[in-house]
Amino acid sequence: MNIDDLTAFAKEKGFFWPGAEIYGGLAGTYDYGHLGTLLKRRFEQCWLSYFVERHNDYYLIEGSNILPEKPLIASGHAARFNDILVGCSKCHTYFRADVMLADMNIKVSEGANPSEIDSAVKSNNVKCPKCQGALLQSKSFNMMVDVHLGPEKNEKGYLRPETAQTPYLNFFREFNILRKSLPFGLAVIGRAYRNEISPRQGLYRMRELTQAELQIFFDPDAFKPDFGSVKDTEFNVVPFKTKKQVKITAANLVKEYEVPEFYAYHMAIIFLFYKNAIGIPDEKFRFLEKGGDEKAFYNRLHMDLEADVESWGGFKEIGGLHYRGDYDLTCHSKGANKDLSVKINGKKVMPNVLELSFGVDRNIWAMIDILYKDDKIRQVLGIKPWLSPLSAAVLPLQKDDTISAKAEEVRSELSKRFKVFFDEAGSIGRRYARQDELGTPFCITIDFDTVNSESKDFGTVTVRERDSKSQERIAISDLSLFLAEKTSYKV
Ligand code: GLY
Repeated sequence: MNIDDLTAFAKEKGFFWPGAEIYGGLAGTYDYGHLGTLLKRRFEQCWLSYFVERHNDYYLIEGSNILPEKPLIASGHAARFNDILVGCSKCHTYFRADVMLADMNIKVSEGANPSEIDSAVKSNNVKCPKCQGALLQSKSFNMMVDVHLGPEKNEKGYLRPETAQTPYLNFFREFNILRKSLPFGLAVIGRAYRNEISPRQGLYRMRELTQAELQIFFDPDAFKPDFGSVKDTEFNVVPFKTKKQVKITAANLVKEYEVPEFYAYHMAIIFLFYKNAIGIPDEKFRFLEKGGDEKAFYNRLHMDLEADVESWGGFKEIGGLHYRGDYDLTCHSKGANKDLSVKINGKKVMPNVLELSFGVDRNIWAMIDILYKDDKIRQVLGIKPWLSPLSAAVLPLQKDDTISAKAEEVRSELSKRFKVFFDEAGSIGRRYARQDELGTPFCITIDFDTVNSESKDFGTVTVRERDSKSQERIAISDLSLFLAEKTSYKV
């Protein structure tokens, strides 16, 4: 799909569209419709089950989106969470420098400073992309969204720029309430805010976004996940030192690129999440290592998770695996004047952090882009049954009072456990096609045999599977168990 097709599909079917759309929209904000909301919830639930709930010592928490100024001064975001802007002297439009230059095929690193940007602008004789006016000197711009609270609006705060801060601010209390051992994980699924100057590419660069982030706190001398279980798992990586994509096992990544075992272990489980839980083909997923100035300021080891998304023009970041060292708890120990180190077997440890960070909106977009297939005969959103917004559609085959009443009975019973859709409008072929396009894995058809007590198929329905189009008859009394088995997440 190209970006216009995906945008139109998302709008027409009920997935997402610009926020405040009837007023012309606010750039970088999106509202999710009835199907998009379900898809997003299911992605979040699947993520939670895979990365958090199966661990005894990992927990989901929820925190305020508004933070006071102090923690974000301590974390470094107030000083360093910056983009470089270039303004036009004539039309006064501002551009995010790296994005503007990338659009002109001029390469600068993501962490380029203003003087690198200015020299790239000068040597390439870059003019304002809008009016061809002369560009001003570039400058640093803090991307946090500030808020002013209180009756005089003089209490400064920020909307959190990453959900990660919530676990850091709550680590001490949770660690003491819970098991007082490491590793220990705190996850958040919630909103983060960034004053993007060039919001664009649909759900790619947003001002209000949803993150699903797991912060694993650990003792660097004693963090030993079960590396043996994934050592032969092979995936694509672009190492910083070669900048060339290689397909490599977790074991060889440790041997040849000096990636720590605990880090390579998490790369493998992330790869397996995309492969098995989300259904992204191996070749459409890779890790891109960031080094030098491209690394986020808090990271020791930084790899982007990238998906090959046609509508974004190739591989793009959909998340990150970040070894943040003891950066965060050390900063907050100083900022809050409270020692956040812990005692493990009598040893004082400042916990290190491994962050698994996922941009939920970007993942939703990437899933639709990669898994929607149009072979000109059929259009099918081939998502996993546990991610599908609708688990099943109930379709009475003909217009007939007895069939309709039975179909309504089936819908009503199933909807106690599943999100099902009832559709009586149009030919059965047309109704199947509508559900295929929305990704509904099963269509349940109620016909004359279902309601005819003389028929050998009395009390049964036809269940059609989306991908194979195969059909089987199933007793109405078995439907609920059938759907539970097929649509529950179990990778
Ligand atoms: N917490 C990491 C990020 O926002 O990219």
